[in-house]
Amino acid sequence: MKKQSRRHFIKDKLWKGLILSLFSPFSSMAEFDESIEESNITKDDGNTLDWEKVESQFTLANSRKHFNTASIGPSPRIVQETTIASIKYINKYGIEDHKVVEKTRAKLAKFVNVNPEQLAITRNATEGMNIVARSLKLQQGDEVIITSEEHIGGSAPWMTLQNEIGIKVKVVDILGREEKILKLIKSSISDRTKVISISHITCTTGSVLPVKRIIELCKKNQIQSVIDGTQALGQISLNLKSLQPNFFIASCHKWLFGPKGTGILYMNQDFLNNTPPLFAGAYTDIKFNLKKGVYEYIKHASRYEYGTINAPIIAGLGSAVEFINNIGIQNVEDRGKYLTSRFYEKISQNQYISILTPFKLDAHASIVTFQIKQKNGSDVCKELRKTANIILRSVTENNMNAIRASFAVYTNEKEVDELAHKLLVIANQ
Ligand SMILES: Cc1ncc(COP(=O)(O)O)c(C=O)c1O
Repeated sequence: MKKQSRRHFIKDKLWKGLILSLFSPFSSMAEFDESIEESNITKDDGNTLDWEKVESQFTLANSRKHFNTASIGPSPRIVQETTIASIKYINKYGIEDHKVVEKTRAKLAKFVNVNPEQLAITRNATEGMNIVARSLKLQQGDEVIITSEEHIGGSAPWMTLQNEIGIKVKVVDILGREEKILKLIKSSISDRTKVISISHITCTTGSVLPVKRIIELCKKNQIQSVIDGTQALGQISLNLKSLQPNFFIASCHKWLFGPKGTGILYMNQDFLNNTPPLFAGAYTDIKFNLKKGVYEYIKHASRYEYGTINAPIIAGLGSAVEFINNIGIQNVEDRGKYLTSRFYEKISQNQYISILTPFKLDAHASIVTFQIKQKNGSDVCKELRKTANIILRSVTENNMNAIRASFAVYTNEKEVDELAHKLLVIANQ
């Protein structure tokens, strides 16, 4: 870990601060102060991040080696306890506690560096992508470019529009050609191209795509850029102010370790000013008078949090952002790259193993996807789950027959080495 980032971590945030900030939604409820234990994640010198202590913040069963954060990130204790405290609070007083949304929105907006008024809290990435796809009012013959590595949640919203209204979804095949993606996308653009919708980090191979350059390409051609940041949020540091996409969507229950059923949708101001909400109801309006027939939508992303919300998971989401902030997102990213490289070095020389993740600086982060010659990826995952309690994800998309391993802040070196060893034994059989 770099000295600078350590210092930043120590100086900026200690767990005491985290605990205090956690209680802000319940500031009048002193009883919650006792229900959540304060934790310290530094070594005895008080200056160095202690990864064992970070690991101890999670409640995974001891024997379970979870290499599947790219599917589901377990929430640390503090997130679970904040969520539970909020459930108790709203049920004690018989309230909804909608105000928690603004506090969590502010934390999320700061985390990805955007204006809070342009950031909605959604249920997941799939919801965000559907909102964008349905709101752009595409016409028959309009073209949307996606890649062959998009998740169903990032691609199906466009494909249903292909079925329903006859837009054309152009799928650019990038597997193994990620470095050529800009060229491949450029050659797919036509004067009917309205949208380019791509993952920041692919869910299949964990490739980090050059989204900044793709967004610039979109701007030049007056195309809407939609970034599926589901695998990026919490895995790498993000600065949306510098990226400037038209839309950025993500789930918060993977690398951010938020409660399940939480996501974000960032949208540009022009869209906010000029697009009616997809769902109208409470919190979507700025003016409403039923008898006079008046409804005016609010030009704030909060309109996508229509109706009664699930305040406890949104409170938990706020504490998830604080949890990552206390480690430091750059430290998280560096740790993932360190563990990933350790794993890569151990398995990449084996003649039966092919690594599909591009292993160049900035082209990968904390995911390694690989194939084992003559082996079925799903069978290997099942065997390791059954015999060693190792949780991986088989990658069956596009008949890839591959295995995906994710390396998170709760992963330790011993687990990485054990995983590599077991895979080498299987590969050599
Ligand atoms: C890149 C990407 N986009 C979208 C999704 C869909 O996420 P959710 O099911 O939380 O909506 C996933 C889930 O794995 C993903 O990896």
